[in-house]
Amino acid sequence: MNPDRRPLIAANWKMHKTLAEAVSFVESIQKQTGPLGDREVLIAPPFTSLKEVGDTLKEGGYSLGAQNCHWEQKGAFTGEISTVMLKEMGCAYVLVGHSERRQLFGETDETVRLKTAAVIAAGMVPVVCVGEVLGERERGETFDVVGRQVEEAFTGLSAEQMAGVVIAYEPVWAIGTGKTATAGQAQEVHGYIRARISSLFNKTIENNVRILYGGSVKPSNIDVLMAEPDIDGALVGGASLEVASFTSLIEFNV
Ligand code: 13P
Repeated sequence: MNPDRRPLIAANWKMHKTLAEAVSFVESIQKQTGPLGDREVLIAPPFTSLKEVGDTLKEGGYSLGAQNCHWEQKGAFTGEISTVMLKEMGCAYVLVGHSERRQLFGETDETVRLKTAAVIAAGMVPVVCVGEVLGERERGETFDVVGRQVEEAFTGLSAEQMAGVVIAYEPVWAIGTGKTATAGQAQEVHGYIRARISSLFNKTIENNVRILYGGSVKPSNIDVLMAEPDIDGALVGGASLEVASFTSLIEFNV
């Protein structure tokens, strides 16, 4: 991590936790960790718990996020949720383009671009997820795939709109598999993404953009990941569901 960028530890709960479980979790986590100091914690619960989780997040440094959104503000889109609605719930962040959305629900680079722009327009921060699948890594295509995803997500944005945007590098082969990219493998791609951002925008955006790593992050590997210069935080699935493991992630040491 680089001290100029505030580290962000983000919980992506995916389709886990009832409302009661969600509220009790955030109460416990705040009791255990207290004020966060130099770091920020993001909780992205299912839509059904957003309001109550947001109301329960009282400690400084905690933010609320959604896991997905639609790019239109309103309309005949049965089952969808707009950025205006998420903002009203108190969301500061929205995950966009998670690999599960890309692989299971037809998310494309084009819909990622539309959603990214919609989240920014609504005054929230997109956490844009990118990452290669195993076959792409094995064929040596990681940089091509991730570079394309980054470029397509941010096409058309001004440097001003890009300020504050968060990127999450999540190699798909490391998600929920217990296989973490080594800190070196992650750093290599993070460095590549940062350089790509520099060529798309400018040096200031390159230096300020926070790039999270996701994929089997757990208490035993968070410190070594966070020690890398271009890793600014973590996007955590499984280990964000238990108070004990998520607390140790928040309390990582550098
Ligand atoms: P795991 O931490 O369970 O591998 O999930 C990572 C992820 O998909 C976070 O968005």
